Amino acid sequence: MCGIVGYIGDRDVYPILIGGLKRLEYRGYDSSGIAILNNGKPVVYKVKGKISDLENFIGTKSKEGTIGIGHTRWATHGEPNDVNAHPHTSMNGKFIIVHNGIIENYATLKQRLIKRGYTFKSETDTEVLANLIEYIYLFGKTSATEAVRFALNKVQGAYGIGVICTDETDKLIVARKSSPLVVGVGDKEFFIGSDATPFIEYTNNVIYLDNDNMAVLTKGEVSIKTIKNDAIEPNIQTVDFDFDEIEKGGFDHFMLKEIFEQPKSISDTIRGRVDYSRNSIVLGGLMPVMSKIMNARRIIIVGCGTSWHAGLFGEYLFEEYSRIPVEVEYASEFRYRDPVINSDDVVIAISQSGETADTLAAIKLAKEKGATVLGICNVVGSSISRETDAGVYTHAGPEIGVASTKAFTAQVMVLAMMALFVGKAKYNIKPEKYSELIDELIHVPQQIETMLKDTSVIEKVADIYKDSPNFIYLGRGCYYPIALEGALKLKEISYIHAIGYPAAEMKHGPIALIDEKMPVVVIGANKRGYDKIVNNVQEVKARHGIVISIVREGDTEIAKMSDYVIEVPNFTTAIGALITVIPLQLLSYYIAVKRGCNVDQPRNLAKSVTVE
Ligand code: G6P
Repeated sequence: MCGIVGYIGDRDVYPILIGGLKRLEYRGYDSSGIAILNNGKPVVYKVKGKISDLENFIGTKSKEGTIGIGHTRWATHGEPNDVNAHPHTSMNGKFIIVHNGIIENYATLKQRLIKRGYTFKSETDTEVLANLIEYIYLFGKTSATEAVRFALNKVQGAYGIGVICTDETDKLIVARKSSPLVVGVGDKEFFIGSDATPFIEYTNNVIYLDNDNMAVLTKGEVSIKTIKNDAIEPNIQTVDFDFDEIEKGGFDHFMLKEIFEQPKSISDTIRGRVDYSRNSIVLGGLMPVMSKIMNARRIIIVGCGTSWHAGLFGEYLFEEYSRIPVEVEYASEFRYRDPVINSDDVVIAISQSGETADTLAAIKLAKEKGATVLGICNVVGSSISRETDAGVYTHAGPEIGVASTKAFTAQVMVLAMMALFVGKAKYNIKPEKYSELIDELIHVPQQIETMLKDTSVIEKVADIYKDSPNFIYLGRGCYYPIALEGALKLKEISYIHAIGYPAAEMKHGPIALIDEKMPVVVIGANKRGYDKIVNNVQEVKARHGIVISIVREGDTEIAKMSDYVIEVPNFTTAIGALITVIPLQLLSYYIAVKRGCNVDQPRNLAKSVTVE
């Protein structure tokens, strides 16, 4: 949700800013801009649209300089247009800032500044912050750094900011609270980014700024303080990064690449954790809290979007294998309803980005109430991974497509490993069953690989139903979250209205929607309750609905009643059932492509949602 880049050093800053913004475009893409200091004189360019629009707009205009900041926006305050785009310059031109997050008390601050003679060009909360900093600087006669610090003490809300002062042109000031900000450390040069991807080809030494911390970067030095003015020793860490992972690698879209990457990403998720020879699972990240997990009275899983769907799938796995009661909640609901949480509850927060504001707030609440909080995150060093008591990384690699695919399957695999790990430790799984489950788990990548060899039926179905205005997705048991995820994928990238429903619930409402024009995607791979799903398919067919079924290879009953059949390889347990999501990811992908939609950057969405 908004991406920030910046640089101070001796290199030409323009390519660093533009290249960095392109990498961060997944975070927001409705408008963008840059500011460069050229011999102390600022130039600011900003436009509505994508980074390519910004590049075209800048064209041959002046862009020399070695200090600069850039921003790609996902609008919160004020519609996406040239004026509301960042960077924002303070009224007297002393400060230029880029901001990710929301200043919640911006309206009050704005009124106070208006009373003191300030005028505003944009509708943004960011311009309020720029003017507040400037007001403190001019009237408090402080340094730029102190002005930023004082201003941050006055704001409520979330921010990751990059600030340039046109009087003090030897420095870049950055700060963060609840929005991510990473400093890249080079040789007499510094980079800033909402994550490390914008500068990874220049340095892999990074400082993850903590909440309420600010850093002042000059060409040779970094100094970090809290906004209360306490000095902090910089903690420089090295990030491992495979550069190929953030390129499309011959695929038309990142989403397609990420769908096809799943055999590898899932192998990476389980690598080093499943010991095939000893038939056991080792999750080192959970060891410090193992007794808490073993004695947990209840597990509460929180997440948003696709991560919440992974949690729902995990509920089936956890309850079946570990026999601990599980509740799954939207983080945004959990945090606002004064939930009953006890010290013997374990809360698992799931998040690809590790930065989702609602999930972070849910973690904070659970910790305050004394629960043990675990994280399942993809982004190493992210806020959620640092705020939780313990956790497991998914290791799916960077996910760039806004619609989550490989992160989902990795999250479910982590939940499966956790459920088996706990189930075995609690003696709830018989040894033969445990071996069978491990065997299934390690074969998931191979199963997906088989499925990806031939996508022709899915492409054909996509072609036939690409113009359908509605879709229904039905599933029972652990296929219900898969149905929800299939419907979400379709909505997100093709803008077709779709609902996911528990198949048996269909008769309590959605069945009224079924006629000869309604495509109904049925995930009919159940072994347990197969007859029941057969009945549900019959109910759809009796109303002349179009059935597109996802079934095990060799299925006869459901296949016979279906208009189109997509087969998946056979599997034996709920862990193997995860593979049924792959055809649904592909179906939404091909429909979106055939409708001419922007698959990787769907309208109105952002990859990392750092606002509530
Ligand atoms: C956004 C993304 C979704 C994602 C959700 C939760 O809405 O577009 O793909 O599932 O946020 O994000 P998280 O990073 O917490 O998994």
